[in-house]
Amino acid sequence: MNKKLIIGNWKMNPPSIEEAVDISNKIRIMATDLKQTDVVIAPPYVFITSTKPKDEQKNLFMGAQSASADAEGAHTGEVSARMLGDIGVKYVIIGHSEQRERGETNEIVSKKIGAVLDAGLVPVVCVGEKSRDQESGSHYDFLRDQIKQTFANVTKKASKDVVIAYEPIWAIGATEPMAPDQILETTIFIRKVFSDLFDPKVAKKVPVLYGGSVNFKNAESIMSVGKVDGLLVGRESVNVTGFLELLRVVDSLQY
Ligand code: PGA
Repeated sequence: MNKKLIIGNWKMNPPSIEEAVDISNKIRIMATDLKQTDVVIAPPYVFITSTKPKDEQKNLFMGAQSASADAEGAHTGEVSARMLGDIGVKYVIIGHSEQRERGETNEIVSKKIGAVLDAGLVPVVCVGEKSRDQESGSHYDFLRDQIKQTFANVTKKASKDVVIAYEPIWAIGATEPMAPDQILETTIFIRKVFSDLFDPKVAKKVPVLYGGSVNFKNAESIMSVGKVDGLLVGRESVNVTGFLELLRVVDSLQY
């Protein structure tokens, strides 16, 4: 059994560096007690250096919320994956729906995944449908196409170095997450598409996370009924009391 992976996507929060350092300190202390869980915090770029623990931690890693598709050059406002690696980032969230909404196409996402892999970092690739149509099941067609296009540039060899985050867009920033039994059904489908694209063995092992309105109260059923390898957490990841409780709950799950 792999370790569980909990990624905190801080988005454009908290408002000040003092608060960012305070949150990361509390998570660092908690992370030392975790037995079967790895935690990643993905603060805004400008907070990464100040929130990174001074000493190497066994369960806590740094993440970033995006990276450029290019390695270097005239790309105003962009940050390369290598630069992120140089400041201690290990995981990079790619293709988040809030980036896709601003014009990031599957093609760009696919290039970004390549850039992150080239820099030796781990892309956390977000996929998810905008809405579901239970009757026609058209969300499955959408997901299949999105996954195929998003991973178009990834080789079979590199496919074992990615993390998939299934985030149904309608469940992000919502009041309720997706029902855990639907999460199970959909993540089985995602593994099947991944298996058709790459290799059944890799598809079995690739970590698949769920994201969208996760909090400390619903994390347990999402993990145990949804059978995901971890969670991509937005709002609750900067609500430090809730996030620490979420880590405790997830770490104590036995299955
Ligand atoms: P949320 O965000 O947990 O606040 O719904 C999740 C995400 O966007 O990654």
